[in-house]
Amino acid sequence: MARKFFVGGNFKMNGTVSSIKEIVDNLNKAQLDPNVEVVIAPPALYLVFVREHVKKEIGVAAQNVFDKPNGAFTGEISVHQLKDSGIDWVILGHSERRTILAESDEVVASKTKYAVENGINVIWCCGESLEQREAGKTLEVIAAQLAALRSRVSDWSRIVIAYEPIWAIGTGKVATTEQAQEVHASIRAWLAKEVSQKVADETRILYGGSVSEKNCKDLSKEKDIDGFLVGGASLKPAFVDIINSRA
Ligand code: PGA
Repeated sequence: MARKFFVGGNFKMNGTVSSIKEIVDNLNKAQLDPNVEVVIAPPALYLVFVREHVKKEIGVAAQNVFDKPNGAFTGEISVHQLKDSGIDWVILGHSERRTILAESDEVVASKTKYAVENGINVIWCCGESLEQREAGKTLEVIAAQLAALRSRVSDWSRIVIAYEPIWAIGTGKVATTEQAQEVHASIRAWLAKEVSQKVADETRILYGGSVSEKNCKDLSKEKDIDGFLVGGASLKPAFVDIINSRA
């Protein structure tokens, strides 16, 4: 089964009603490559607004979700509330939540399990810090993050993996095509060995970290790069060029 190219836009904690409306209008007007699955992730406050205004071919993702059905969890949003609002994706395990909000591999795995088991698709992020890369630990760090996920999750059909080296996020310092391909191939090999060949063949592995309209074409040609998770550039008109990087 061919893996459909996937481009996610992670707005992070950016935007206002008017700037998000502009992004949505721009996407609605644009000619987007029909062979690409597009999902945008505005801040929680704007999820319903975006779902109501963006064309139906574009998916909408939350940037977090909790692993309990409902109840006394101030500040959290449930999987059921996302589904009730027509939101069928969530980003989990982003390095900003792992580092700033101290989410452990186990917390991320638990949220991912709860989401996929209750019908929400997950963009699950992993990646190493600069220190870890310089110490030659990149593949080891990612294997540990994947192992925590595998210990909780058995259905991988709702998971898209985003490899996001922390040193490349928001820094303008993109991984080289060789660096990205090497890690992507190792993630796929890990899936083949530790989960199954089918999951390895079917799971999309995205690259994230300073993806722009300038570097996306070369990255998209790599065999194991099945799309992108785009931060800063997803707020700009250039996001359309990234979506259409293979057109
Ligand atoms: P960036 O962010 O494209 O701004 O580097 C990517 C991400 O954090 O998902």
